[in-house]
Amino acid sequence: MQIDRFVDRLEVSWENAGAGQAPYVWFRDNCLCPACRHPQAWERTLDTVALDPDLRPAAVESSVDLTLVWDDGHRTTFTSDWLREHLPTPAPGAASGEPEPVLWTGADARRAPADVDFPEIMQGDAGLLRLLRLIRDRGFAFVRNVPARAGAVVVLAERIAFVQETNFGRSFSVVSKPDPENLAFTAGRLTPHTDVPNRRALPGLQFLHCIDFRARGGDSILIDGYLAASRLRQADPEAHDLLTSVPIPYRFSDEGHDIINRSPVIGVDNAGRHTEIRFHPALMAPLDLAPDLIRPYYRALSAFGRIVRDPDLAFVFRMQPGDCQMFDNRRVLHAREEFDPNSGPRHLEGCYVDRDDFLSRLRVLERRGADFRRH
Ligand code: OGA
Ligand code: ZN
Ligand code: ZN
Repeated sequence: MQIDRFVDRLEVSWENAGAGQAPYVWFRDNCLCPACRHPQAWERTLDTVALDPDLRPAAVESSVDLTLVWDDGHRTTFTSDWLREHLPTPAPGAASGEPEPVLWTGADARRAPADVDFPEIMQGDAGLLRLLRLIRDRGFAFVRNVPARAGAVVVLAERIAFVQETNFGRSFSVVSKPDPENLAFTAGRLTPHTDVPNRRALPGLQFLHCIDFRARGGDSILIDGYLAASRLRQADPEAHDLLTSVPIPYRFSDEGHDIINRSPVIGVDNAGRHTEIRFHPALMAPLDLAPDLIRPYYRALSAFGRIVRDPDLAFVFRMQPGDCQMFDNRRVLHAREEFDPNSGPRHLEGCYVDRDDFLSRLRVLERRGADFRRH
C-alpha cells in the first residue's frame, strides 16, 4: 500500500489493485477504535456532525497499516484490506460491491435456465445460494417441485427471510373469483406491471407458486424492466427523463384500506443506473400533474408501455403445479394471458419478501467460510 499525502486529502494505491482517496475528515469519521464505535453494536458513537470538515491530522504513519494521529493525540488505524474495500474511488458507488445486473431479452431467458429444485433449497445452503444469486443477477428464477399445496410458498419464502405482509395478507391466493379485490383475482389478461407501486416500501422479492392449473390460457410472462428502461432511454430520452423525474400517484383503496404513494415510474441513481421500476397503469390515481405536463406524460407512458409489451422482451412460459416463479419486483415486470375459468381451475399462491432482507441473506451466505468481520 502506497500513501500519498496532500494538503486536503490522502491517496492510497495498491500495486495492481487500484487506488482511492478521501479528505482527512473521512478518515477521522471512520475511525474503528472502541472509543469511536461501540465494540459490540458496531454503530458509530463518534459524533459525525461535530467534526470539522477541514480537519487535518498532526501526523500520518504508514507501514503495514495506515495510522493518522490527530491534534488531540487520538490515533486512527486502518488495515490495507479495510481501505481497499471502503476508500472512495472516482467511480461513484463502486464500493457497494454489488455485481451489475445481467440484462436479458425473452430469447436470452429461454436460452439460460434459471431453475433450482425445492428439496435442494430446503436441504442445504448451496441450492439456496444459487437461487439468490440468480435473482440478484437476472432478477428472476424458478423453484421446481415445490409441494403443490397451500402454504408451501411461505415455507419457501421463509427459507430466505421473513415474509413481507401486505393488505392482501401474509400470502394471497391468485384465483378467479366473483368479488375480486384486484385484477389479478379475475380471469382477465394482466399487462406487464410491477406489484404494489402504491406502497413506499415496495415489495421486493415476489413469489408466485402454482398449486393447480388446468385452465386453458393463462400463460405467464416476465420482462426485464431494466432492459426496457435502457431501451426507452436510447429511443426516447425525453420520455425517459419524464418517467425518471416526475412522481405520479398510485393508489389502492377498498373498504378497509387506502394506500397511496407518489413516485417516478423509473428510479435512477446518481450514476444514471436504473434502480427501480414502478409501472402499473391499472393502479395509477388520476394524474395530478401541471396540466401542460399531462399530454407529454401520457406520451412517455405509452412509449414505455410499447417497449415493455414488445414480444422481443417477453419471456413467456406456462406454469405447472409445483413451479414457483420468483422475481425482483423492483426490476422485473410480470404479466399473464387471459384464461378460461370454465375450462378448469387456475390457482397460484403468492407472497413477498423485502428486498433488503433477501440481499442480506445472500450476503450472509456468501461470507460463510470467510471470517466474519465487522464493516
Ligand atoms: C399477481 C399477478 C399473475 C398471474 O398476482 O400479482 O400478477 O399469473 N398474477 O396470475
Ligand atoms: Zn477512534
Ligand atoms: Zn401482479
